Amino acid sequence: MNIAIDGPAGAGKSTVAKKVAGALEYVYIDTGSMYRALAWAVHHHALPIENEAAVSQLLQDNVIHLRRVQGEQHVYWNDTDVTAWIRTSEVSQFASIVASYGAVREQMLVLQRNLATQGNVVMDGRDIGTHVLPDADVKIFLTASIRERAERRWKELREKGLDPDLSEMEKDIAERDQRDMNREVAPLRQAEDAVLVDTTGMTIDQVVDRILEICERTGESRQ
Ligand code: CDP
Ligand code: CDP
Repeated sequence: MNIAIDGPAGAGKSTVAKKVAGALEYVYIDTGSMYRALAWAVHHHALPIENEAAVSQLLQDNVIHLRRVQGEQHVYWNDTDVTAWIRTSEVSQFASIVASYGAVREQMLVLQRNLATQGNVVMDGRDIGTHVLPDADVKIFLTASIRERAERRWKELREKGLDPDLSEMEKDIAERDQRDMNREVAPLRQAEDAVLVDTTGMTIDQVVDRILEICERTGESRQ
């Protein structure tokens, strides 16, 4: 079985997808980290972000790959592990800009489909159910109120000893959501055959249980 999990920032996709993959002994694939790695490289090389052709060429000339390191998925730009550098607010905004470029998405689509050919993957992103794995056996669209999503990200940073501004974070997330939903190529939207799970007020474990239940039902209906 392949499982596609899509939704906006802070909906809980990666946290939940990792746990679902762990419970089913599937491979977890974080497609957002691939757009983030490219965004990091654009920033690192001081490439003009608005130059779609140059950004797309940069991706073509380099290699992004995912590797498991001590049980965690790490993302590499050629031989450099960039995992620790891709979660800043600047890289997040850059990621959603490079993700709006058709020539970039075409290359990512090929890379991501190749990663899923092994089967038994849980893949999360924005266009997995609609474009990358349109034949996925289970499709979930995770969401939550914008306030709760911003608060989750805010808490995450507070736990790291930082003192972020909650309303700034909410603004950042809203801006990224707008760009992701309104781009021309593979915009963020719920696939027609996806199950909507609104996680507002739900704990991580409640969401994981709900998704495992959906997977179990799908598995049973196939037998
Ligand atoms: O991948 P995505 O942006 O959708 O979200 P995430 O990074 O998995 O989750 C953002 C934060 O929300 C993490 O700190 C999770 O622990 C937390 N979370 C939560 O508090 N309750 C949930 N039901 C899901 C996630
Ligand atoms: O963790 P969070 O939900 O904040 O973001 P992410 O999943 O790491 O994705 C970062 C950005 O990459 C998103 O804002 C999207 O613009 C883009 N993305 C995409 O367009 N398609 C995907 N399949 C995954 C990510």
